[in-house]
Amino acid sequence: MAPHTEQLTRPAVRLRGLTRSFGGRTVLDGIDLDLPAGQFTALLGHSGSGKSTLLRAVAGLDQGVAGSGELSAPERVSVVFQDSRLLPWRRVLENVVLGLDGKDAYDRGRAALEEVGLGGRERAWPGELSGGEAQRAALARSLVREPELLLADEPFGALDALTRIKMHHLLRELWKRHRPSVLLVTHDVDEAIALADRVLVLEQGRVGVDLAIDHTHSRDEYRTRLLAALGVTEDPA
Ligand SMILES: Nc1ncnc2c1ncn2[C@@H]1O[C@H](COP(=O)(O)OP(=O)(O)OP(=O)(O)O)[C@@H](O)[C@H]1O
Ligand SMILES: [Mg+2]
Repeated sequence: MAPHTEQLTRPAVRLRGLTRSFGGRTVLDGIDLDLPAGQFTALLGHSGSGKSTLLRAVAGLDQGVAGSGELSAPERVSVVFQDSRLLPWRRVLENVVLGLDGKDAYDRGRAALEEVGLGGRERAWPGELSGGEAQRAALARSLVREPELLLADEPFGALDALTRIKMHHLLRELWKRHRPSVLLVTHDVDEAIALADRVLVLEQGRVGVDLAIDHTHSRDEYRTRLLAALGVTEDPA
């Protein structure tokens, strides 16, 4: 196969038999998973089911999974967490370009801030931003690195409902424009269905449900199915 074709067809993330235990307790139990390049995937699961553990492994942040199976991920990976993790002693733009090389780093940082609707706030201190604005800045910091893979661990979990909806639109728009592969951890079924093209449910250390989402379909069917997988039955009233 020509290298170019191979690059197009090879999944961005490939996991085979990935296992992680803590003190003899197995949290990830031989996970097999491919994430195609450019796909938006959401990962659901009960609290403690291992979502963050899986995300950290894919991000290369967990040395403890080494050798437990096969794991390949792209070189340029960005991670967004529930809190923005901005450095409070650096201005917003400085946070966004932190660690970036190149003469144009500041221009790129400004453009990224513009994209997330924070144009004009470059010189603000993180402490002066609202929760939603701080998460926008965190997204800008991720985007400016032009990630092939964006990993997000409940990035909107601490936001109010209205801000969360706005952030959903923003993330989906940014994804359409830049097309990284996305793995979004959430425990919000509606968020998963609204944003992702594929929804996974982590159950007993494995991917128990793997559901393709067609955004032209009614969401109700998906919601019922996913809630059932999570052990929740909707009140018929
Ligand atoms: N560093 C660690 N040391 C010991 N146990 C850990 C460690 N990290 C995770 N665990 C355990 O692994 C299990 C899965 O944790 P994880 O944080 O991945 O869950 P989660 O699905 O992200 O949950 P939540 O929805 O609450 O964020 C939990 O039981 C947790 O206590
Ligand atoms: Mg978690």
